[in-house]
Amino acid sequence: MASSGELIRRRERVVCRGVGRMSDMTAASAEGATITDADGKSYIDFAGGIGVMNVGHCDLEVVEAIREQAGKMLHASIHVATYEPYVELCETLVELFPHGTDTRAMLVNTGAEAIENAIKIARQATGRPAVICFTGAFHGRTLMALSLTSKLGYKLGCGPFAPEVYRLPYPVVRPRAGEDEATVSRRELERLRATFKDTVAAKDVAAIILELVQGEGGFNVAPKAYVEGLRKLCDEHGITLIFDEVQTGFARTGRWAASEHYGVTPDLSTWAKSMGGGLPISSVIGSARVMDKASPGTLGGTYGGNPVACAAAMATIRRMKALDLNVRAERCGTIVRERFEAIAARVPEVSDVRGLGAMMAIEFCDDGDPARPATALVKRIMDTCREQGLLIIPAGVDSNVIRVLAPIVISDQDLSRGLDILDHAIESSAPGSMRAPARKGL
Ligand SMILES: Cc1ncc(COP(=O)(O)O)c(C=O)c1O
Repeated sequence: MASSGELIRRRERVVCRGVGRMSDMTAASAEGATITDADGKSYIDFAGGIGVMNVGHCDLEVVEAIREQAGKMLHASIHVATYEPYVELCETLVELFPHGTDTRAMLVNTGAEAIENAIKIARQATGRPAVICFTGAFHGRTLMALSLTSKLGYKLGCGPFAPEVYRLPYPVVRPRAGEDEATVSRRELERLRATFKDTVAAKDVAAIILELVQGEGGFNVAPKAYVEGLRKLCDEHGITLIFDEVQTGFARTGRWAASEHYGVTPDLSTWAKSMGGGLPISSVIGSARVMDKASPGTLGGTYGGNPVACAAAMATIRRMKALDLNVRAERCGTIVRERFEAIAARVPEVSDVRGLGAMMAIEFCDDGDPARPATALVKRIMDTCREQGLLIIPAGVDSNVIRVLAPIVISDQDLSRGLDILDHAIESSAPGSMRAPARKGL
């Protein structure tokens, strides 16, 4: 087997540069919350393959379900023949995520594909062209999804983008800068009303798409009053409300859906990542009233809802239930939040600690000033973590946020060990931590 160095050199010879690379990390095997590189070195995994491994790497029941289905049927295409794993998974999804009294689901392969299909459904259901999205949003790399994505680093030279996409500021609340949820919600809902007058008429808007907790955008959490207001405005104007739960879903926030924290039901929602336990599968779920407006043949794709991926997803959901993963996520989130708050009290470069459930992040800015993102510092911290045996990834438009997406099955011991490594890496990398007295009120 190739060493890490050889593997990276081989990659550089044949894999094009456009496929982004966060570091020289390699991976040969993984189990639970541990990942082992090509040189045999083990790491505590705080990345979870970008939020995919909530149920843990290579859960034995998930692996067994994959083996069993692989021996029966690898592929048929749902457009050619109806097979039980597809139907059974959709039955499970509509039960887990009811969108009103009558819910429908469809399956594709990736988060971006789910987004593409959700927008097509919203447009067919409303007969309108426009879509409203947000700053800091990440919805994927296919054309419509990329048009909705915010960070320019993902989009360089890829245009022209899809037309009729309008972007509003995400309702970011910074309590440390004296902001409160009510004021931000009121201000941003007012901005949306003004947008209907000066930018795009409400009667032309097919959908508003929102991440309740932004993933790549840096774990900003939308305030409840804003989400409730959005629901009301969408109802008033016949606009489809879409929640992108690709990163938040399947126990990451301590609920099956982040929307459960809000008590707000969208018309459509998108799912992927941890749904498949590591296999590529995604879904659009929505009220039958909206979903069934899409004409036959306009949705799906050859591989959508592959039977092996469906079997993996069914086993993943069964395991999440058996392990009570939502309760575990709440506990992991509390442990991480407490540690991050303690770090924030010592280190002046920490400008925010935020998140929901086990979706926690810590943000770094020079002297804690949100206008001066500490991108290089975060890179240094992550490199030090990797040297010390912790794999962790950044987030945020400026990549100045460190996020925790560890498999939720991680033991308390490994979680604490990982946080110790991170804590020491911050301590040794942040210049302010050496000179600052403990900060109050953080
Ligand atoms: C919220 C959200 N939506 C969509 C996507 C796109 O998913 P994929 O990379 O599977 O296309 C992502 C991926 O990070 C995401 O976090």
